[in-house]
Amino acid sequence: MFWLNLVQAQSFMPTPATDIAQRVDNLYSFLLISSLIACIILIGGMIYFVVKYKRKSENDKTPRITHNNFLEFLWSFIPLVLFLIMFAWGWSVYHDMRKMPENALEIHIFGKQWAWEAQYKSGAATSNLVMVPIDTDVKLIMTSKDVLHSFYVPSFRIKQDTVPGRYSTLWFNSNKLGEFHIFCTEYCGTQHSGMIGTLKVVTQQEFDAWLEEESKVSTLPLAERGAKIFQVKACASCHSVADANVKVGPALWNQWGQQRNTSSGDIALNEEYTRESILNPNARVVKGYNPNIMPSFQGQLSEVELTALIEYIKGLK
Ligand code: CUA
Repeated sequence: MFWLNLVQAQSFMPTPATDIAQRVDNLYSFLLISSLIACIILIGGMIYFVVKYKRKSENDKTPRITHNNFLEFLWSFIPLVLFLIMFAWGWSVYHDMRKMPENALEIHIFGKQWAWEAQYKSGAATSNLVMVPIDTDVKLIMTSKDVLHSFYVPSFRIKQDTVPGRYSTLWFNSNKLGEFHIFCTEYCGTQHSGMIGTLKVVTQQEFDAWLEEESKVSTLPLAERGAKIFQVKACASCHSVADANVKVGPALWNQWGQQRNTSSGDIALNEEYTRESILNPNARVVKGYNPNIMPSFQGQLSEVELTALIEYIKGLK
């Protein structure tokens, strides 16, 4: 329909990349246009009557009018039909949006301060990146590791809270290749606005190759595995591993063995101190850094993973 396309001008909304997104847009356009027409009739009518029936002289009297059955029926019945159309249309879109497909590709999503982690069944894990094949039903099974977050993909017109201690779900089937934003839409702390991820839609072939590559993590050399964990756990959102890059936490580039001036005395950056800082970050905080920012990774990393991280940090120079 011409008038629907009018509202869907590309600059107006993020590119719709699923059938559901297109349906949401159609409904939205209908709401917008019917509201606009109603607004013109109401406000326009009001202005017209104000001018037309303005009292022109002192003894200008209003004729006695009690009611008009036909008009009253019309202004009740037409809006009723419009509202019922909106309800049925909205219900149908919402129903399909919330009805999880069977045999979908399932990906686990963890929201945490402040990153999105994705865990695939093959063992592959990513941070702030969700890779999916095109034209495939994808189901996200989501929870949070700390506070409320909300997983939002504007181009797919889907959004769902992630709640600690329970699972919520979302599904989509993208019909467009490309990269789409993932935002967090629940205020979750200082870096809430930085909790941005990428949802990448690739061909099935590319996806399979990527998944196979990403699933090989446990066979990598220790330091490389550490680099992977560093990326997956989103350590890089607070700790710089490149020179002279100031972030919320102390930089790690070329720091191994260097003395650190902490709240409980000087200590060199060694295995012991690195381990302590990961598991119990507030024990000895480098002076000048806020002590209550870093979450503890107690229980989230195996001994091997901890060792891999230490080996990675050791090699940063
Ligand atoms: Cu997570 Cu806002």
